Amino acid sequence: MEKRVQLYEGKAKKVYATDDKNIYIVSYKDDATAFNGLKKGTIVGKGAINNKVSNHLMGLLEKEGIPTHVVQELNDRETAVKAVTIVPLEVIIRNIAAGSLAKRLGLEEGLKLPSTVLEFCYKRDDLGDPLVNESHIKALNLASESELLQIKAYSLKINTILGAYLLPLGIELVDFKLEFGKTADGTIILADEISPDTCRFWDTSTHEKLDKDRFRRDLGKVEDAYNEILSRLMGGA
Ligand code: TMP
Repeated sequence: MEKRVQLYEGKAKKVYATDDKNIYIVSYKDDATAFNGLKKGTIVGKGAINNKVSNHLMGLLEKEGIPTHVVQELNDRETAVKAVTIVPLEVIIRNIAAGSLAKRLGLEEGLKLPSTVLEFCYKRDDLGDPLVNESHIKALNLASESELLQIKAYSLKINTILGAYLLPLGIELVDFKLEFGKTADGTIILADEISPDTCRFWDTSTHEKLDKDRFRRDLGKVEDAYNEILSRLMGGA
């Protein structure tokens, strides 16, 4: 497979075309941003860690019947993925109140939610990715009714699979963000990444934050947290 032109550069990844129209290459960067790009920095080694973490977790999900975009890890920071058109939604799943939910609804961070919360944001950087509901998604035609049903079912199943996998590793899955894509034949598959950039991971016993909140909130030991997640996933903890 041959890398061709760069199609897109996002805040954390670049996407390249290849000589196969059905395959793209994603390249993970060490760049980190928060608050819609207002805060900028570098997390040394993040690209390689997120590449490995995301591929590991998506491999697990594939085995459990969730179709994902991952085709093959190519090197430290690059992975071949299925070419998709991204559905312009961020799906957020929450098990414990934190971040914007805690702020918006006046909940204490750390409160275990009695039932899973599923939210959608419209992927529009120029609008700051606003929260939308299903009637907005329908009115704006962001996804069809059947696509949305599929996306919700996959998202809840992913929560169950990942939560059960991470718990014995001493990692609490507080909340996370997913993005889905549509292949040329219209199939919905899991795309983007699952990593400490896109999830809140807390140590089960100490409740220490092992994710991008260390960068967002200037908590220090950012690289250590990313390395800790990788090492626990790879069985080194
Ligand atoms: P929030 O509490 O800030 O809304 O974040 C919810 C989850 O979504 C959290 O695990 C971090 C993740 N997330 C992203 O992956 N990208 C984003 O741009 C934002 C705001 C959150």
